[in-house]
Amino acid sequence: MIPQSFIDELRQSSDIAEIIGGYVQLKRSGRLLKGLCPFHSEKTPSFTVFPQNGSFYCFGCQTGGSVITFIEKAEQLDFVEAVKWLANRAGIEVPDDGSSDGIGLLRRRIKEANREAARFFYRQLYTTAGAEALAYLHGRGLTDKTIAHFGLGWSPDGWDKLSKHLISLGFRADELEAANLSFSNRSGAPTDRFRNRVMFPIIDLQGSVIAFGGRTMEKEHQGRKYLNTSDTPVYKKTNNLYGLNWAKATCSQSVVVTEGFMDVIAMWQAGITNVVASQGTAFTAEQARLLSKYTSTVILSQDGDEAGQNAIRRSIPVLRATGLDIRVLQIPDNMDPDEYIKAHSAESMRSLINGSVSDTEFLIAGIISHHDIDSYDGRVRCLREICELLGKMNPLEQEVWAGRIAEQLSVDKSAIMSQLGIISRKQRRNESREELKAMAQEITGGGTRSNPERQQHLRAAKAEESLIAAITLSPTLAAGLEQRLPPESFVTSMNRRLYAAVLEQIKNGNEPSLMMLEQQLTPDETSAAARILNSEPAVLATAGDIEQYIAIINEERARPTADDLSGMTDADLASYMQALSKRKK
Ligand code: UTP
Ligand code: MN
Repeated sequence: MIPQSFIDELRQSSDIAEIIGGYVQLKRSGRLLKGLCPFHSEKTPSFTVFPQNGSFYCFGCQTGGSVITFIEKAEQLDFVEAVKWLANRAGIEVPDDGSSDGIGLLRRRIKEANREAARFFYRQLYTTAGAEALAYLHGRGLTDKTIAHFGLGWSPDGWDKLSKHLISLGFRADELEAANLSFSNRSGAPTDRFRNRVMFPIIDLQGSVIAFGGRTMEKEHQGRKYLNTSDTPVYKKTNNLYGLNWAKATCSQSVVVTEGFMDVIAMWQAGITNVVASQGTAFTAEQARLLSKYTSTVILSQDGDEAGQNAIRRSIPVLRATGLDIRVLQIPDNMDPDEYIKAHSAESMRSLINGSVSDTEFLIAGIISHHDIDSYDGRVRCLREICELLGKMNPLEQEVWAGRIAEQLSVDKSAIMSQLGIISRKQRRNESREELKAMAQEITGGGTRSNPERQQHLRAAKAEESLIAAITLSPTLAAGLEQRLPPESFVTSMNRRLYAAVLEQIKNGNEPSLMMLEQQLTPDETSAAARILNSEPAVLATAGDIEQYIAIINEERARPTADDLSGMTDADLASYMQALSKRKK
C-alpha cells in the first residue's frame, strides 16, 4: 500500500483538468469540463471532469474515478504504476517501492524474464546451431544491423534450453509460465514454448520486452506459421501494435499500418520508419486510441485479398471515431510491403505510400466495383449505397464527393445532394433518439453495472448515495453517524463498502477524497464512487437532510421485498420526469 499522506501530496500537485486536458479536448461548462469520452466512442460529450473534487465521470460508459484512475486507463498502467507516473510528472519522489508486492512484482519479473530471453535468442543466432536461422534471416534480405536493431533471434531446438538458462539466472518456473515462455510437461518439468523458430521480440513504449512472435523456418509448414505469446499480465495482443516503440519517433505526421512483423522490418531497412503492424488481428478501438496519441494520419496497408479489404473496411470506422485521418495503401499483385520492396524498390514503395487514397475514396471505389453501373438498376443501387456512406460524412466531404460522383456516374449533383439531405435528417433523428434512450437509462438505472442491487432498491440506494456524498463534502456531518447508522444497515452492498471506506477516512482525520478511497475499491466501485460523489446538488446538505437519509435507509431495509416499480415513489417518478424534460431542451 502506498501511504495515504503521499497520495494526498500527489493529489495537491496533480491538476486533474490539466492532466486530462492532455488527452481529451475539454470545454468548460460552469464548474465542470466536458469532452468526448476517450474510453468509448461517442459523438456528443458525456465525459465530465469535476475539478473541485478531483474526479471524472462518463455518463455514457459509466467509467469514472480520480486522476489516478484516468492515468491507469489512458496509459494502461496498474495503480502503483499510475501513481509513479503522476509522481514523476509532478517531480516528487515515491516513498516506498510499491511494486515490491503482488501483481506489480510479477509484472516486473515477467518483463525481466522476457528481456533475458530476448538476449538469449539473439545470441543463439551467432552460434553454430543457430547458423540455419541466421541464414534464413539473411536469405530474407535482412542485414546484421537490422537483425540487431529489432533484436531478432532464434529459439533453439530441444525442450528446455531457454527454461534452464532462465532458471540458472534465478527465475522461478511459475514466473516463466506466467510469462508464457515455458509450460510444465507431464512430469512437471519446465518446457520451452518456442522451439526452433525465428524470434521477434515485441517491445512496449517504455522499452520493455513484453512478448514474442516466433516464425517457423519450414517452407511447407504443417503447424502454425507464427506462434505468439498468449495474453499475460504484461501483454494483450489486441491492444498492441508491433513496432510502435520504434515508429513513435518518426510517425507524428503519418503511420503505415501493415499486417506483419516482416513488413515493419523490411520497411525500416528500406528507410521507411513510420511503420507498425497490427499482427493480423482486426483493428481494435484500443489500438486506434493508442495510435491517435502519436500520429494524425493512419495509412492502412492490408493484404490485397478479399479478407484484407474487409479488414480495412472494418478498421475505418474504428479509426474515424478517434478523429484520425485515414488513407488506404493498395499494393499491386496481392503483395505485402516486404514482398513489394523486394520485387521492386524502396523508391517505388515510397511512391505507393504517397499515392495512397483517402478512406472515402477507397470505400466509394469499392461500392462502384460491386455494381454494374452500365445498367440503370445497378446505377441506382450503387448511388443509393454511396449516399448512405456520404450521409455519415461532414458537409464539406459531401459537397466534394457529390460533385465527383455526379460526374463519374453521369447524374445531376443536385439529385445526390437532396438525397443526402434526406439521409442526414434520418440519421440525426436516429441519433437523438439513441441519446435520449441513453439518458433515460442513466437516470433510472445509472450505475447498475457497478451496483446491480441499485435497480431493485432504488429508493434506498439513492438515499445511501446522497448520504455518502453529503458526508464526503461536509465530514462534520458524520459525527456520531457510525453508531447511529453502522455500515451494516445499508441496503446495497456496494454502497455499504463505500460508506465504510468514507467513514474510515473521516475517522483517521483525512479529507475523504476519491483518490484516498481508491486504493480500497475495485475499478467498478471507483466508477460508481465518482458518479455518487458528483450527483449531489451544489448546495451542501444539512443535518436535517442526514436525518431524512437515515430514516429512508432504515425504512427500506425493513421493507420485505421491493420490486422496481413499487421501489419508485411518486417523488422519484416526478424528479425523473423533471430531469428528462430538462435534458430534452
Ligand atoms: P502473414 O501470413 O501475412 O505473414 O501474417 P507475414 O507477416 O507476411 O509473414 P512472412 O512474410 O510470411 O514471414 C501477418 C501477421 O499475422 C500474424 C503475424 O503477426 C504475422 O506477421 N500471424 C500470421 C500469426 O500470428 N500467426 C500465424 O500463423 C500467421
Ligand atoms: Mn510477408
